Amino acid sequence: RNGLKRGSFILAVDVGTTYIRCHVYDKETKIRGSCTTKVVLLYPEVGHVEMDPEQIWSGFVTVVRGAVHDAGLQMSNIEALGISTQRATFTTWDRKTGVPFHNFISWQDQRAADLVRSWNRSCTMKVIHNVMKVLYLMTRQKRLLAASLIVFSTQHVTFRLVWALAHYKQIRQAVDEGNCCFGTIDTWLIFKLTKGKVHATDYSNASTTGIFDSYQMCWSSFLCSLVSLPLSIFPKVEDTGSQQVFSSVPMLQMADQQAAMFGECCFDVGDVKITMGTGTFMNINTGQKPHTSVAGLYPVVGWKIGPELVYLAEGNAADTGTAIRWAQELELFSDVKDTSAMAYSVDDSDGVCFVPSFSGLQAPLNDPKACASFMGLKPSTTKSHLVRAILESVAFRNKQLYEIMLRETHIPIAKIRVNGGVSTNDFIMQLTADLFGRKVARHKDNEMSCLGCAFVAGLGVVLKTVLIRS
Ligand code: G3P
Repeated sequence: RNGLKRGSFILAVDVGTTYIRCHVYDKETKIRGSCTTKVVLLYPEVGHVEMDPEQIWSGFVTVVRGAVHDAGLQMSNIEALGISTQRATFTTWDRKTGVPFHNFISWQDQRAADLVRSWNRSCTMKVIHNVMKVLYLMTRQKRLLAASLIVFSTQHVTFRLVWALAHYKQIRQAVDEGNCCFGTIDTWLIFKLTKGKVHATDYSNASTTGIFDSYQMCWSSFLCSLVSLPLSIFPKVEDTGSQQVFSSVPMLQMADQQAAMFGECCFDVGDVKITMGTGTFMNINTGQKPHTSVAGLYPVVGWKIGPELVYLAEGNAADTGTAIRWAQELELFSDVKDTSAMAYSVDDSDGVCFVPSFSGLQAPLNDPKACASFMGLKPSTTKSHLVRAILESVAFRNKQLYEIMLRETHIPIAKIRVNGGVSTNDFIMQLTADLFGRKVARHKDNEMSCLGCAFVAGLGVVLKTVLIRS
């Protein structure tokens, strides 16, 4: 706080799957101005989920301008800009012109589900698993154990990128000419903001692509050669706190879930945060070592700021907000705020179960083809029963993820923090706490990705001031 000049402000943008939000924070982390716009999701084919890069860019510019204006400020009052983004949504573009070859392919997209399934069941993977197991037994290196357990997922970039390379001739041509850039949303925004000078991401974003080796801290040349991905297209990976400059404002990029972890101050080993937005993302701080999972928890870099490197294990459920929004579109209710009361208005779900899997089921089931369904419908079933079944399914997925975390990490869980739009739902939160058998704490500010990113951006300013002073 003391490093920030009087009257100086931090701008934080969160590019989510549903909204792009921007807040202006003052020294006390009070929000002084805000602006939000909706993300337009495109569904060009069944199972395909895309975003128009130009819409993301114009949405980004709109919320930045809007929030600065809302705070009654100018860009010159802004000390630093933090950019938090949804992870593993990517595009590829021409290095010279900056023109994308295709839309962003979302982390929710299922186009690679068949590829993922056939690779997971392939003899090649069985051989790799066995070889890695033997190597692990010989060397006891955890990264070899991780490689022996690897289960591919559509949420990772890997096979969606394999798909894109196979389907878009212009990408292959640009790769051959050394002219192709790959990037997640953060990388693309930084490329645009620096007018094509910087092609970079940070460790938190890179580690969620599935192509980054979080044990060795570099893009995985083994995986790239296995599935024929050209290493030349990947951005440079930098520290989370490392800053680029836009209009003399230092800016940094960070993955949204890791930013939320930082915003919740989950700095100690065993701290857990659950963000419930479009999907649910549960993370546990595993300290300086990545966690190697059997059930499909994923080891990600929380942040790397100077010498501090923090790992998280992550479990997720892809359909949380999406399931509730779907129910709203079906007119089971008109205002999402009514859903908690609707669920409490009935004693139970009348035996109805909902499976929240529009984008498959993730850990511990790891089935990209699992289909969403209502089961146990009866003539007596009312809208309230259906809504209750949907809300219960969100809490049950929380419980499943929590149980794997307990079972697998053997780390005593210190505190549990919840955030994200869906965390405002009292019914879901109470049921989650009851199923966990312990307290879960909900902050009144549920936009932790923005806050965490603002913290890291502010930290960068402070550290720089300290460096200049000393
Ligand atoms: O990995 C995908 C995740 O970052 C999406 O977050 O906030 O859009 O649900 P959100």
